[in-house]
Amino acid sequence: MAGTGTAHLRDGDPNVLVRVEDMVVEFSISSGTVHAVSGVSFDIVAGETLGIVGESGCGKSTTARAVIQMPRPTSGSVTFNGTDLTQLGNEELRKVRPDLQMIFQDPISSLNPRRTVSDIIGEGLRVWGARGQWTSDRLDELMEAVGIDPRFGERKPHQFSGGQCQRISIARALVLDPKVIICDEPVSALDVSVQAQILNLLEDMKQRYGVSLVFISHDLSVIKNISDRVMVMYMGKVCEVAGADDLFARPAHHYTRALMASIPGSKAVVEASMIEGELPSAINPPTGCRFNTRCPAATDICRSEEPTIEAVGGDHYVACHHPATETPVTVES
Ligand SMILES: Nc1ncnc2c1ncn2[C@@H]1O[C@H](COP(=O)(O)OP(=O)(O)OP(=O)(O)O)[C@@H](O)[C@H]1O
Ligand code: SF4
Ligand SMILES: [Mg+2]
Repeated sequence: MAGTGTAHLRDGDPNVLVRVEDMVVEFSISSGTVHAVSGVSFDIVAGETLGIVGESGCGKSTTARAVIQMPRPTSGSVTFNGTDLTQLGNEELRKVRPDLQMIFQDPISSLNPRRTVSDIIGEGLRVWGARGQWTSDRLDELMEAVGIDPRFGERKPHQFSGGQCQRISIARALVLDPKVIICDEPVSALDVSVQAQILNLLEDMKQRYGVSLVFISHDLSVIKNISDRVMVMYMGKVCEVAGADDLFARPAHHYTRALMASIPGSKAVVEASMIEGELPSAINPPTGCRFNTRCPAATDICRSEEPTIEAVGGDHYVACHHPATETPVTVES
């Protein structure tokens, strides 16, 4: 099964915070069923940044949103603190929401334009009041931590730049001391110069507040920069999971190699090439390995049998019938 399997899950590791197992998310539309996420499994480990990368439409956002049950997965489980979130009713789910926060791509439109920045950041404290003290000190501390002058608390979002709005979003996500923050393309809408500042801020906040990050991006250079581990997705499936250094030094899945070859400035030296051909329809995905219609190494078995995820050494896992082992691809960051 392409990209299905659980060999990469960390059974028995007490640091696993969230376990997603065999998660499927499908959408019914007039022309059929969209297979957005098709049997994805992964762990989020305490204190790590897990990068999720893949082309537009591969299911990154849907995967992330389904972790927080928005939308509810079609099947599979999401275990947090020993509880399967997919089995919780809305009221019980509400109680765990503060622990699992999200930051979105467009910082300006994700902030309520009519509220002041203090109100926006402090909203969680009011809604989930029991979890924290609603104090102006707490707000000042957070605003300072994210680099927004607390004296500007009465201003509205439109009075800030995109980068500053993303800092405000980060403060809002941190206010309830979450365990995990899912960052969905948080720097994609920002100028390159501001991107680095926001990435540094996320890294600082991760250390300071002991939060784990899930960092979604279609940009491998950004993913390389920020992630401890990386999960590569293609058409709703997991292709490869590895420590960031290992993945970039020894990419084993042909899709990962093709993605790396497409980074400007990369020195791709094997068969990897720019990804050719159209992305198949998520309503009617290819049988076998979903990448077989575009893979330079595809054989008959790739068209008929879906590969399961298997270890290729250390903490490195790949779902491919013919994983690449030759000369690594060099990627300059
Ligand atoms: N609410 C929805 N209804 C129908 N189809 C959807 C819905 N949300 C997502 N999809 C489809 O599910 C698939 C995965 O979409 P998703 O937004 O998760 O991808 P993504 O990897 O986050 O893409 P991008 O990089 O563009 O943000 C796509 O085919 C998309 O069109
Ligand atoms: S070699 Fe086969 S299984 Fe591996 S990525 Fe290519 S098509 Fe998929
Ligand atoms: Mg997305």
